[in-house]
Amino acid sequence: MEREISTLAAWLGAARRAVIFTGAGISTASGIPDFRGPQGLWRRIAPVTFAEYRASAVARRRAFALHAQLAPLWADARPNRGHRAVAALVAAGKGHLVVTQNVDRLHQAAGVPDERVVELHGNLERARCLDCGVRTPFAALLERFRQSGEVPACGACGGVMKVDAVSFGEPLPADAFARAWEASLAADLFLVLGSSLSVYPAAELPLWAARAGARLAIVNREPTPLDEIAQLVIRGDVGEVLGCALGVA
Ligand code: APR
Ligand code: ZN
Repeated sequence: MEREISTLAAWLGAARRAVIFTGAGISTASGIPDFRGPQGLWRRIAPVTFAEYRASAVARRRAFALHAQLAPLWADARPNRGHRAVAALVAAGKGHLVVTQNVDRLHQAAGVPDERVVELHGNLERARCLDCGVRTPFAALLERFRQSGEVPACGACGGVMKVDAVSFGEPLPADAFARAWEASLAADLFLVLGSSLSVYPAAELPLWAARAGARLAIVNREPTPLDEIAQLVIRGDVGEVLGCALGVA
């Protein structure tokens, strides 16, 4: 693996417009479970799709109960070596843009400026009414759910409130995806860190970046569907590999 890590270090040193694309695998070392790894969340529970959430109060309660169960993991999570290495890349002017599928905001907590992070799947900070668009902090809704067992309705119109984290079947934030798409087509290096690359449209980005001429490098514990088109695949721990490549502890 040493040879691959020194290749990655050289590519990162030469990059002018790198896109750093991260998935749940960069946050497992911070105590947040991934979704499809050996202990992945979706191996144990079925996600609530957007259509189910919209249609059913029972599904909304199940979604809130899952958030209530996982919220302490997110609250306790701190950036790990992988996040620190990404932040060092951006600070050194190497990482043009961090495009993350994660909703944990650990890249920002590690020091990446908010304007250099694109959250493809939103985040857990706020919730919005699906009927009138009013927005409110999600933590307050979750606390009311913990007290009452009921999902609070919109205070303005009585409509359905939903957290900004994107569910299956829910459209991605259009401006976020457009920004990520543009950066991917212009990238000279597209680095995937800890993603199974199994969810679309996010997984389109490395594909199109490679087609547009970027070097594609994938660091992931398990094989991904895009390994065969990548110029560099490192089967290892994100924090160790990137930390070694950049000399970040
Ligand atoms: N180092 C390297 N790879 C790791 C590590 C680690 N420390 N920990 C886990 N992995 C790998 C797993 O083996 C897995 O292949 O990271 C990958 C994470 O894949 P997923 O769990 O599918 O997560 P992700 O690709 O981010 O999922 C995309 O799916 O459920 C939706 O919206 C959710 O954003 C998520 C999207
Ligand atoms: Zn409303």
